[in-house]
Amino acid sequence: MKVLLATEKPFAAVAVKGIKEVTDAAGYELVLLEKYTDKSQLLEAVADADALIIRSDKVDAEVLEAAKQLKIVVRAGAGYDNIDLEAATAHKVVAMNTPGQNANAVAELALGLMVYAVRNFYNGTSGSELKGKKIGIHAFGNVGRNVARIAQGFGMDVLAYDAYCPDEAMIAAAVTPVHSAEDLYRNCDIVSLHIPATAETRQSINRALVGMMPKGAILVNTARKEVINEDELIALMQERQDIKYVTDIMPDADMKFRSLFPGRYFATPKKMGAQTTEANTNAGIAAARQIVDFIENGNTRFQVNK
Ligand code: 3PG
Repeated sequence: MKVLLATEKPFAAVAVKGIKEVTDAAGYELVLLEKYTDKSQLLEAVADADALIIRSDKVDAEVLEAAKQLKIVVRAGAGYDNIDLEAATAHKVVAMNTPGQNANAVAELALGLMVYAVRNFYNGTSGSELKGKKIGIHAFGNVGRNVARIAQGFGMDVLAYDAYCPDEAMIAAAVTPVHSAEDLYRNCDIVSLHIPATAETRQSINRALVGMMPKGAILVNTARKEVINEDELIALMQERQDIKYVTDIMPDADMKFRSLFPGRYFATPKKMGAQTTEANTNAGIAAARQIVDFIENGNTRFQVNK
């Protein structure tokens, strides 16, 4: 069995070592394609792979067509919007993610972005504190729950909206459930996005919604750029000089945000949320184990293209 680890943004070396230990123990061969710069490299490398581990690397119909031996692709991470699930199913390839494995890393970065924003991007002026502020968690999944836990440590008042999560789960975590996105944005000083990019959520974070936030609002995005309606957010931030936008996913209109909103906008140069040794190790090893468990035992627990 040949397992290809294809990561345009590579894992920490220790994570790769951990993945290799898992594949070695199963008697599989591990092939590395790290820091590749062109899709053609992936198309070539995937040709004889039985299993594939990726991060945000795009696995579209062309990649699946080139992967004649492929049985399984595991996205070492949470969001799988980078995999063409229909094409995977059509090619009889099982697609999985590794939910929760990198959630703490992303949540810590979200809080880091919040501190950066309330302290005026460390520009030497007097800022404010997170303690006592209301934070709205938009989607209470693995990352949202970790954000809630850490925010509580800061003394924040935590609210959450998630159409798919029962109130009880939030209440058990000492989080106040709200029942519409509008209620969340209307009532929170800071909103932290943790929704996946789907047909339903694309461009859903728009002028009307963010415009409901109170004075001094901060929008934090460690989810996906696709969920933001960038034109409308720009228009709103031009109208409302008090709003800040901090993001771990550089918007398409980064240059525009940068030039229009100095001191109110920050984007990491490359998505950094899950880029920790711990998250790389957890997600990478989970992916390798899931591959072995699928090949050896047919375990499809984390399959996302059912
Ligand atoms: C995820 O969906 O798991 C995160 O966005 C992390 O993505 P990355 O592996 O590309 O850093």
